Amino acid sequence: MPLLEFIRYHQHLTGTKTGCNEGDCGACTILIGELVDEELRYRSYTSCLAALANANGKHVVTIEGLNKESKPGDTDESTLNAVQQVLYEESATQCGFCTPGFVVSLAGFCLSEKEATSKNAIAAIDGNICRCTGYKSIERAACRVAGLVEKRSMSSSIDFLTETNIIPGYFKDIKKRLMEMRPLHGNVSQASNKTWLLGGGTDLYVQKHGEIKDADVRILERNQPGQNIIIHNNQCFISPQTTVTDLLESTVMNQYFPLLQQHVKLVSSTQIRNMATIAGNFVNASPIGDFTIFFLALDAQLVLANNVSQRTIALRSFYKGYKKIDKHADEHIDNIYFELPAAGNLFSFEKVSKRAHLDIASVNSAIQLSLKNNIITSAAIAAGGVGPVPAYLEKSSEFLVGHKPGQKIIRELLIIVQSEIAPISDARGSADYKRLLLNQLLKAHFLTLFPGLALG
Ligand code: FES
Ligand code: FES
Repeated sequence: MPLLEFIRYHQHLTGTKTGCNEGDCGACTILIGELVDEELRYRSYTSCLAALANANGKHVVTIEGLNKESKPGDTDESTLNAVQQVLYEESATQCGFCTPGFVVSLAGFCLSEKEATSKNAIAAIDGNICRCTGYKSIERAACRVAGLVEKRSMSSSIDFLTETNIIPGYFKDIKKRLMEMRPLHGNVSQASNKTWLLGGGTDLYVQKHGEIKDADVRILERNQPGQNIIIHNNQCFISPQTTVTDLLESTVMNQYFPLLQQHVKLVSSTQIRNMATIAGNFVNASPIGDFTIFFLALDAQLVLANNVSQRTIALRSFYKGYKKIDKHADEHIDNIYFELPAAGNLFSFEKVSKRAHLDIASVNSAIQLSLKNNIITSAAIAAGGVGPVPAYLEKSSEFLVGHKPGQKIIRELLIIVQSEIAPISDARGSADYKRLLLNQLLKAHFLTLFPGLALG
C-alpha cells in the first residue's frame, strides 16, 4: 500500500493531501527520517508513490508532526511553526490545499545539510505545485525560511531548529528512538517470475497503481548510502538501490562529472530524486529516460541476476524495441558498472522539456569524448526521444574519432546523426521539431565542452 493511503485512511492524518497521485504535485509530501552512519537524516518523499514497507524502521513526518506543540489557550495563529508563520505573513497561501506540502518541503530544507541560501530553499520546493496563490509570494516565503536557518550549525541542527520553532521539541528524541528500534524484516520469499521488484516505486506506482496491492511484490531493501556507489579497479559500481539523490551526493560522481549538479537539476523534483532509483530508470525503458541516456554515453554494463545465475549485458544492448528489454521475468538488475572516465575526458548532458522542472524530456542527449592533442580519440553519443528506444548513436560516435572539434566536423556530424534517428510526432513535439532539437543539443554539447568554438 502507498504510504499516503496508510497516513490518510488508516492513521486519519488528513493534512497530507491527495492530488495527482503520480508524484507531480507535491501535495502529499512527507519527510522520512532515518539513521545514516549513526546520524539522523531527513528526506522529502511524495507519499503517493512511496511503499509503506519502505518506511520500515524510519521516522515518518506528516504536516501534523510539524505543528507547534500547543498549550491550552493557544490561538490558531500562536500554534504556527516558524515556516507556517512566514508563509502566512507573505500571503503565500490561498485555498491551502498545497500548503502542507510546501511547509513539509521547506522543513525538509531546514533539516538538510544544504547551505542556507534562497536558491537552495526555492530548489527544495521544486516538486510542489500551487494551483491558486501564485509563486512569487511562495518564493518570498522560501527566501525568508533560508534566512531563518542561516545560523544553523550541522552538529546541533535539531536543537537549533526546535529552539527556533521550526520543528517541535519531540524531534530531539527521534535519533534515540530509531536506534532502539529494530526494523522488522519479513520472510523474504523466493522471487518467481510473477514477482514485482519495487525500488523507489516512482514508476511502478504510476503505471500499476491499482494492481500493485494484490501483486506479489518484493521490496528492494535500502543500503546505507555509503554502500551504494563503490569504486573498484577503476570501475564505478552502482547498486540497484542507488537513488538519484545518492548519485548527486556522491563525491566520486561529482569528481568525475563536475557538471553533475547542473545536469541533474532539471531531472524530476527533489522528492522524486530522493526516491527514484537509477536501475528503475533503466528498466522503465522509456525512450527518453534521462539517466538511461546519461549512462548509455558511459557504456554502462548491467549485471542481471535471478535465484540461480547472473549475466552481464551492455546497457547499449538492453533495449530491443519500444518498452522491450532483454531481461527475463525472474531477473533483476543486481549491479551497474562503468569504466571511470580517464583524466581529461569530457562529458556533457542536455535536456529540453516543455517546462523547466518535473517534466519529461522532449529530447535529451549525452556525449562523452576523449581527446589527444585536440584530436578526438573516442566518442560516445546517446540521444532520447528520437526513436522507440533510448538510442546509442553508433555511426555518429565513430565518425567523430580522428577529427578535431570544429564547425565543419559538427556540420557533417549532424547529417549522420539525422540518418540514425527516427523520431515520431507526439505530445512532446513533432518529428521535425525533435530532429531540430537534437541538432541544437549536440551543438550545445560542443559549446559547453569547447567554449569559444565558433558554430554556424
Ligand atoms: Fe501529487 Fe502525490 S498526490 S505528488
Ligand atoms: Fe491553493 Fe496553493 S494555495 S493550491
